[in-house]
Amino acid sequence: MTQTVLLAGATGMLGSQIARHLLDQPDARIRLLVRGGDAARKRASLDPLLTRGAEIIEGDLADRASLDRATQGVDVIVSAVQGGPDVIIDGQVALAEAGRRNGVRRILPSDYALDLFHATPGEHMMFDLRRTADEKIAATGIEHVHVLQGAFMAMFGPGMGTFDYDAGTVTFWGDGTQPIDVTSVEDTARMVARVALDRTVQSGKFAFAGDKVSILGAADVIEAQTGRRFDRRSNGPEAGLRVAMAEAAKDVSNPFKAVMLAYQLYMLTGQTALSDLQNHRYPDVQLESFAQFAERTLLHLAAA
Ligand SMILES: NC(=O)c1ccc[n+]([C@@H]2O[C@H](COP(=O)([O-])OP(=O)(O)OC[C@H]3O[C@@H](n4cnc5c(N)ncnc54)[C@H](OP(=O)(O)O)[C@@H]3O)[C@@H](O)[C@H]2O)c1
Repeated sequence: MTQTVLLAGATGMLGSQIARHLLDQPDARIRLLVRGGDAARKRASLDPLLTRGAEIIEGDLADRASLDRATQGVDVIVSAVQGGPDVIIDGQVALAEAGRRNGVRRILPSDYALDLFHATPGEHMMFDLRRTADEKIAATGIEHVHVLQGAFMAMFGPGMGTFDYDAGTVTFWGDGTQPIDVTSVEDTARMVARVALDRTVQSGKFAFAGDKVSILGAADVIEAQTGRRFDRRSNGPEAGLRVAMAEAAKDVSNPFKAVMLAYQLYMLTGQTALSDLQNHRYPDVQLESFAQFAERTLLHLAAA
């Protein structure tokens, strides 16, 4: 039976990939909730989706009336929005409430993370926002599926902080041996498209991961594939990281510094590791390993 999916965030990094994979599903009609502004950029990302049959409805998570219009006749809402409390909590809860009013069966909130439900409240602002939103969304009574895929594998690529491809260094806290759940953006989007439409998935966490790799393990893979060498540098033990986190928490002008350190903490301790992985739920979906990801995306960085 054909289901209508409303996707919020289709102009974003992850949402644009989710849209592509939803359009691959034979039994789905896709509606995109798109807010106004920056028309040229949006046209470039949306035109290929419209050509393939997606429908656009203009709206904003801050505009309640637009959410009522957007959710009419919808079966499933997929959210891939990003933002502060106004978007992640107020906006997504408003979207779920509009969905509930209009007979939408299910929502996938914009979680896409490590197991944020195992994070210590107050330690990681982005996880706190999502957990608060998720609790409020659950209270509306709508079915809610929390997609958790760990970190995106791209975090080991250039410009992401951990690996410095120019300096030839990899920097971490602790000894770098804690395995971390990682998945490519493409596989995350592929799984989201399947989970969204799968009526047998129940409310709660839906976790999967393409691989589990430590920072030192990732360094070995990248070195083997690119021929580059990375000097391994530890910033120090967990106690030092906690001191740095306490310092960063005092700097209210830049909350993201504290968030980045909290990510490091969870990567060091494994506190937010995923469990009950659904990697093989869809036999035709083979999740990419980190070695496959590195071969696909990092080979152009090979040493001359
Ligand atoms: N686990 C990981 O390693 C990892 C890494 C990156 C991201 N993520 C997660 O993936 C999710 C998506 O992140 P992203 O990086 O793809 O985000 P992004 O590229 O910044 O895109 C955000 C999207 O949200 C839309 N949006 C924001 N506010 C809105 C509003 N009020 N009404 C309607 N739409 C609104 C934006 O629309 P406009 O185009 O109009 O701005 C855009 O389409 C987030 O939950 C993020 O935390 C996880």
